[in-house]
Amino acid sequence: MTGKGLFISFEGIDGAGKSSHIDYLAETFIAHGHVVTRSREPGGTPLAEQLRSMVLSQEMDALTEALVVFAARRDHVRQVIAPALQRGEVVLCDRFADASFAYQGAGRGVEWGVLQDLERWVVGDMQPDITFWFDVPPAVAAQRLARARQADRFEAQSQAFFAQVVGGYERRMQESPGRLVRINADQTMEQVRSAIRAVVDERGLLSLGRA
Ligand code: TYD
Repeated sequence: MTGKGLFISFEGIDGAGKSSHIDYLAETFIAHGHVVTRSREPGGTPLAEQLRSMVLSQEMDALTEALVVFAARRDHVRQVIAPALQRGEVVLCDRFADASFAYQGAGRGVEWGVLQDLERWVVGDMQPDITFWFDVPPAVAAQRLARARQADRFEAQSQAFFAQVVGGYERRMQESPGRLVRINADQTMEQVRSAIRAVVDERGLLSLGRA
């Protein structure tokens, strides 16, 4: 556990539908009297947001990309996540270090060991208490993305790339089985919502992390 607060991250391939479920969870925590800090990666601070726009728009080699997302993460952890947890808040973060293992590692081939070193340096013991992994087949995600706005550099990747990314999340879940919780996101919004709520209730999360 991370100090007094509660740290929750959300993962999944592009098109898995994370954002609306983060909204739902934010409302649920607020309704139970928590202060919620909502953020995203790459991003969450002015510097990290600048790094985000570079990483989403410019071609770069895979290790450079990993270094940039971890640089953004260091700024974000120091400026936003750690202070919010210190204040006893609930931090809801749209993606965190698992995304680097899934995208830069499994997707683009950066060595797992290199990412583990970066994670040790940058994240240390500031791991999420729980990570919801919205798992959806790449073909379903692709259909959802086709209906959405213009694709960024990652969203434009092939289904084969996203299948590798899914494999990366799978591996992270095997490595931290208690932290990563797989939610089947290939169902209706209501069904996904009740799957999330079941985990929240089961783990007593609404009564944790109060200031
Ligand atoms: P995303 O949550 O999909 O943002 P939006 O919903 O606004 O498009 O995240 C942006 C992209 O960044 C996503 O395609 C995955 C990628 N990404 C990485 O490649 N590595 C990382 O470490 C993180 C945090 C994100």
